[in-house]
Amino acid sequence: MGLDQLASKATSKTAARIDYDTYRLRSFVEALGEAELERRTGTTKLAAIAGTLEANPKAVLFEAAGSGGYPLVGNALASRSRFALAFGVTPQKLLPEILRRLRSKPEIVEVSREEAPVQAVVMTGADIDLTKLPVHLQHGKDGGLYISAGMDFARDPATGQYNVGLRRFMLHGRTSTGIDLVAPSDLRNIYQAAIARGERLPLSVVVGGHPVDYFAATMRMPGDELSLLASLRAQPMPVVKCVSNDLTVPADAEWVLEGYLGEEGYQEPEGPYGEFLGYYGAVKLNPVFHLTAITRRKDALFQTATIGGRFLGRTDTAQLVAAKTEATIWSSLESAVREPLAVCCSASCGGMFNVRVSLRQRYPGEARNAIAAVFASVADVKNVFVVDDDIDVFDDGQIDWALATRFQADRDFVVGSNFRAVPIDPSLEGRRSGSKGGFDCTKPMTSSRSLEYAIPAPPVMPVRIHEGVSAALAAGPASFLDLMSAAGSRDGRDVLREIERLTDRGQLRRDNDGRYLLQETKV
Ligand SMILES: Cc1cc2nc3c(=O)[nH]c(=O)nc-3n(C[C@H](O)[C@H](O)[C@H](O)COP(=O)(O)O)c2cc1C
Repeated sequence: MGLDQLASKATSKTAARIDYDTYRLRSFVEALGEAELERRTGTTKLAAIAGTLEANPKAVLFEAAGSGGYPLVGNALASRSRFALAFGVTPQKLLPEILRRLRSKPEIVEVSREEAPVQAVVMTGADIDLTKLPVHLQHGKDGGLYISAGMDFARDPATGQYNVGLRRFMLHGRTSTGIDLVAPSDLRNIYQAAIARGERLPLSVVVGGHPVDYFAATMRMPGDELSLLASLRAQPMPVVKCVSNDLTVPADAEWVLEGYLGEEGYQEPEGPYGEFLGYYGAVKLNPVFHLTAITRRKDALFQTATIGGRFLGRTDTAQLVAAKTEATIWSSLESAVREPLAVCCSASCGGMFNVRVSLRQRYPGEARNAIAAVFASVADVKNVFVVDDDIDVFDDGQIDWALATRFQADRDFVVGSNFRAVPIDPSLEGRRSGSKGGFDCTKPMTSSRSLEYAIPAPPVMPVRIHEGVSAALAAGPASFLDLMSAAGSRDGRDVLREIERLTDRGQLRRDNDGRYLLQETKV
């Protein structure tokens, strides 16, 4: 289905109701409080941007980045809390909200060029110049300056459907860039079909978009991906025709770079680049993006996406990949076990390799079914940790505790070899396939009545049923707390004195669970 069938044209009546602000990057950034946003006033040299963003827990808004004076934001979605804010929920509710929105009906409204904020400024011909944009060196050994937050829009001529992805673009000069298009992706398939026909492929690249749009762009779904953006927004999405190619992009974006991927194919060296697993990726032969126009908002906000290094949990890329991994494996889990409860992929592992799943186990062995389901899902997960419903998968300490106290390596470890692997994983040491490990950190299903697995917590005073210690003991075995409740004690030492008195008289004993009972009580 082409856009003509998907999008309705804005009429003078609907035009007034079109919302260009809610899903604009600047609105999201400006709404962040001090705890989430650092503001850098004045001009920041481009060479200082990467150092400011590295491991920074906050998003950083540079009022003027580099000599051109354009504003720039980095780390906008580099924490789960900001990511969740973008979806209007708490971090724990992020996945259910994404799944809910994925089911919502997309609404796309095409607006005129005059109305579209992203075309308030239009540059073509001799005016286009990528070297005037605030593009900075991200890592010491990168091959050059990279646009790191490029959201690319292309149309598959075979189906008429839109493909949207996130890619990096290495500047070659004023009007061309490289693009990393080696890993399997829909855009790679569409482009390879175009060069096989000897054709170029029109491509428009949004730089500066709402986190919800960026999340949609990382997803790889069958069907039209412009509609996927609209579904995830869960409100009508305004789009506009580009000025120099026939593509359509969100009309509320900040910047758009229009152009095409050349028919010459994979010819230009691209890289090295600090990759999403934390290490450098090597130089590869890649296609060229040729620029034909630049359009932008009046007060357009450029964006950089942090990636790689030692502090992956604080990068935009790992947060995006983690959310995608969680959404991708959820459907596999749902069909494999009766009651999956939560899934968390830690961003500190790059957002792909280590996944935690909690479930309510209904049958022995379900934890292993969950492990097998995650192994088999399209997300390239390497290590799966399955825990019971009392463990919070988002809490590193609780996961550590479950692994330490509920897992026996010779009994609970599942290992599989020769799975499809992510080639840039350095631990593969050149191999094409890799192994996966499953850690069943659930308690035995028979453990619920055992004190060994009962978890200590501060006492909660039960409702008083008996009047006094003797009455409670006359009714049957009682814990120390039960006796405090019966005595109306908020101290405990008074109960201890009573216990001592009864014990001295030979009237009290204790059962195997440590409860107190009268000598003559039968258990
Ligand atoms: C910040 C970021 C940058 C990315 N850059 C690239 C890239 O340069 N090349 C690539 O192949 N995939 C990259 N990815 C992964 C793709 O965006 C992802 O696989 C996407 O699903 C591809 O879309 P497509 O299959 O619809 O073309 C990146 C992901 C993120 C989060």
